[in-house]
Amino acid sequence: MEKSWATSGPGDGSDPTGPTDPDGPGHGGAWSVDLHLDALGKGPRSGVRRGLTDALRDAVRGGRLAPGTRLPSSRTLAADLGVARNTVADAYADLVAEGWLTARQGSGTRVADRAVPRPVASARPPRASGAPVHDLTPGTPDVASFPRGEWLKAARRALAAAPNDALGYGDPRGRIELRTALAAYLARARGVHAEPDRIVVVPGFVHGLTLLGELLGARGLRQIAVEPYGLGLHRDRLARVGLRTRPLGLDGLGTRTDGLAGHRAVLMTPAHQFPIGVPLHPDRRARAVEWARRVDGLILEDDYDGEFRYDRQPVGALQGLDPDRVVYLGTASKSLAPGLRIAWMVLPAALAPEVAGLKERAGASGGAVDQLTLAEFLTSGAYDRHVRSVRIRYRRRRDQLVAALAERAPEVRVTGIAAGLHAVLELPPGTEQVVVQSASWQRLAVQGLSRFRHPDAVTAPRDALVVGYGTPTDHTWPAALEALCRSLP
Ligand SMILES: Cc1ncc(COP(=O)(O)O)c(C=O)c1O
Repeated sequence: MEKSWATSGPGDGSDPTGPTDPDGPGHGGAWSVDLHLDALGKGPRSGVRRGLTDALRDAVRGGRLAPGTRLPSSRTLAADLGVARNTVADAYADLVAEGWLTARQGSGTRVADRAVPRPVASARPPRASGAPVHDLTPGTPDVASFPRGEWLKAARRALAAAPNDALGYGDPRGRIELRTALAAYLARARGVHAEPDRIVVVPGFVHGLTLLGELLGARGLRQIAVEPYGLGLHRDRLARVGLRTRPLGLDGLGTRTDGLAGHRAVLMTPAHQFPIGVPLHPDRRARAVEWARRVDGLILEDDYDGEFRYDRQPVGALQGLDPDRVVYLGTASKSLAPGLRIAWMVLPAALAPEVAGLKERAGASGGAVDQLTLAEFLTSGAYDRHVRSVRIRYRRRRDQLVAALAERAPEVRVTGIAAGLHAVLELPPGTEQVVVQSASWQRLAVQGLSRFRHPDAVTAPRDALVVGYGTPTDHTWPAALEALCRSLP
């Protein structure tokens, strides 16, 4: 596996994404310089150290890190790479000993002046065959910002307080501590009507969606309405449990509800349509709930990034309008990390036992220790603090994206930016594939809007990119943004 990163601001406490770094490009500075390395993080510690040392040496030797370039502090780079600080410090020390780097009190670690001069930049685009170095695909938060220290403290407290039976097979709905903490948090932060008995914790949204698909199938449903844009993975999961997905329409007020007639279930993202980004208009929210009451239907509400709203008050959960008609689904994948595999469903009281039974039969439960830790994380206030802190960082990235596009690609309109970790870049008609191709020349992974479009959608196709600005680390973000700007018309 290839792991990549870019050196950025000069060290701890600096704002590496800020434009005012006096050591920035043109001043012998360090940001926007990428390194990549095979197999970092695999194998023994010495292997990681050697891999890092080799990559840094290659970057200096090859001119990617120019003489005088200031490297990030060992703490910052270690946090971005997810390795121990000592590993980075040791790699730096090796390279200082070899003469590639210099380390001076007060001026940090820099590329030595004797290092090979930067080769003249080629006018040709980089070869397309290389694996992407920058990643702006949507769906993943900046996992380097995972609050490791706070999480470990919460885990220690949670485990110390847990009864022995917490380590048994337990309740298929998930640990009661987590369900209780979620009920309080979701009521407070998302306006969800939740009691612990109606919550089922699942190892990821997709798992919950699969269970709900089975439930609908058991009630004789063979189709479900969906939004015209969404994740193919979710449509596939529904198809696998025998539900055909039928796309609704979409306009400036969000997903159209007039197409719900004839259906008994719908999957939607009301707070922030994925990936278009529009919130569902209040009239449509009311109409969706009226429809569900009239036909004895069910709304599956995917609230995947409800915590991240920047310019206005959060849009509350649709579930608050009718907890008996809406299944609320939330996840820790955006707010913390997808690797946790923790998500939750708040179910109508009548359905909770049946869904818990389906989950038990499916045999997937998720780890009790992580559930206890998340419960502690929520009740101690660490979750709110983390969300507040990353929200500020993502908002800053969003603002930098908007500013960079206004300057470098004024033809491109940015939409869907009031919330979430991604934006939609509306492109001139007919250019989406060209831009995706041009991005791959810049070794930038980015996705066109067309790949999210339901194959049967009647909504007119639009040429656009879906840019996940949450995905890079702070250090790789400036270089990823630069690669994006270079890819645009
Ligand atoms: C639209 C949408 N829903 C839900 C999720 C969460 O999925 P999971 O909890 O399976 O990671 C994501 C994550 O990328 C998403 O983009």
